[in-house]
Amino acid sequence: MLSVIDTLEYHVSVRDYTDKKIPDEMLEQILEAARRSPTSSNMQTYSIVVVKNQETKKELAKFAGNQKHVETCDTFIALCADISGVDEACQIHDTKLAKSLETTMVATIDAALVGMSLCLAAESHGLGTVMIGGMRNNPRGVAELLGFPRGVYVAFGLCLGYPDSKSALKPRMKSEMIIHREQYFERRSDNFIEYDKELASFYRANGKESPDAAWTGVVAKQLENIKRPDLKNALESMGFSFD
Ligand SMILES: Cc1cc2nc3c(=O)[nH]c(=O)nc-3n(C[C@H](O)[C@H](O)[C@H](O)COP(=O)(O)O)c2cc1C
Repeated sequence: MLSVIDTLEYHVSVRDYTDKKIPDEMLEQILEAARRSPTSSNMQTYSIVVVKNQETKKELAKFAGNQKHVETCDTFIALCADISGVDEACQIHDTKLAKSLETTMVATIDAALVGMSLCLAAESHGLGTVMIGGMRNNPRGVAELLGFPRGVYVAFGLCLGYPDSKSALKPRMKSEMIIHREQYFERRSDNFIEYDKELASFYRANGKESPDAAWTGVVAKQLENIKRPDLKNALESMGFSFD
């Protein structure tokens, strides 16, 4: 088993899996370890939905824009923000859950933390993982397919399986672009341009096409228009607040 530091330092997202099954005991250990993650005020405002059924994974892959790894991974896990439990606690005590942007964020952060713990625990066992934000393409569809009650939405998914192929480590931005010491330092835009070049060379060296502006250009195009414009409405209709 890899150490925590080695697991983090060697992380790459894996999208190609073999047919080898993840042993049940290994999966249970990963799930139980991840459940020790910190959670805001011990509210545990998240749920983990483990999916192994092939047909269900196939449907989920479609929701994610036909991402084949969602279907071909051994186990797919939906990481859900879940305020149904705290809602029930309020009902038990004849109060009403004051839903707000804060409760939505608390639940979403809880889901993200447990998702990262799952990813780390799984990779420490030599499994490959990739997170799937594509689940938010259709949060209502996922909720219906997986039988969520009101107050539960899928923040993202996580594919788990034995890696068939693993790519090289994707370069990150320079440390000084991300890590600020004592005070936030203004980022220099020439560092972004430098990163564009580094990322473009990485993609090309690994047989992928890349524009010259491999980071700034891609991000600028992706974020020019609002992504998932229906997301707020969908989550509100599922019992979350943004006020
Ligand atoms: C919240 C989140 C959502 C993601 N969604 C997807 C996705 O839908 N499909 C996918 O192939 N990769 C997805 N990824 C993986 C990222 O693309 C990947 O982590 C990033 O490009 C860095 O590459 P690396 O993980 O190999 O270092 C997601 C990652 C995160 C953290």
